[in-house]
Amino acid sequence: MSRPDWNSRYDTDEYIYGCEPNSFLVEQVDLIRGPVLSLAEGEGRNAVFLASRGHDVLGVDASEIGLNKARALATERGVSIRTEVADLACYEPTLNHFGAVVSIWAHLPSVVRGRLYPLVIQSLVPGGLLLLEAYSERQLQRDTGGPKDIDMLLSTEKLSLELGDLEVVLLRETEREVVEGAYHTGLASVVQFIGRKKAMSHE
Ligand SMILES: C[S@@+](CC[C@H](N)C(=O)[O-])C[C@H]1O[C@@H](n2cnc3c(N)ncnc32)[C@H](O)[C@@H]1O
Repeated sequence: MSRPDWNSRYDTDEYIYGCEPNSFLVEQVDLIRGPVLSLAEGEGRNAVFLASRGHDVLGVDASEIGLNKARALATERGVSIRTEVADLACYEPTLNHFGAVVSIWAHLPSVVRGRLYPLVIQSLVPGGLLLLEAYSERQLQRDTGGPKDIDMLLSTEKLSLELGDLEVVLLRETEREVVEGAYHTGLASVVQFIGRKKAMSHE
């Protein structure tokens, strides 16, 4: 299964996912508390939006070129973000630290999610939120974005299983028009999840 070479994809002046934030994040932003960890941040549109709302944001991504563009966008918009180049397959987030973790189109193999998600939960403070939007398995039949690998696509069942230690605030599969740059445009099948770390969690 061929995977995108993200540095090559981002190596253009254009912001390929646009400069405006993901619309699910915009809808739900009032729930977010900082500091925020943004997984697979890419070119910075979501981190810059969160910083513009006054949050301390750390954007992590494997693509150095993507994160260079993220910092340039932050400078242009007059906000400050922190970035870290890292492979989420071996990333170790700071434990018991983040008020929110954001995961927008962070499509990862199940083996990587299986390692990362428990660490993400441990990285949240009690009451902290994970907010996630991803393409669903039904997106495989569409040509409007997302990986062509069912293992990297999500479903409400996968999320319930993999993030079962979080209290569910919102979990749904839906169809919506996604207009977020050249690679994500058109009617899409998505899953949306918001989960809260329980105050008495053993994580
Ligand atoms: C579809 S883009 C989404 C970017 C951003 N979240 C957005 O919504 O604009 C997917 C991102 O995941 C990143 N990514 C993919 N696999 C990764 C991994 N193993 N570790 C870190 N980042 C990864 C890519 O570099 C890319 O920036």
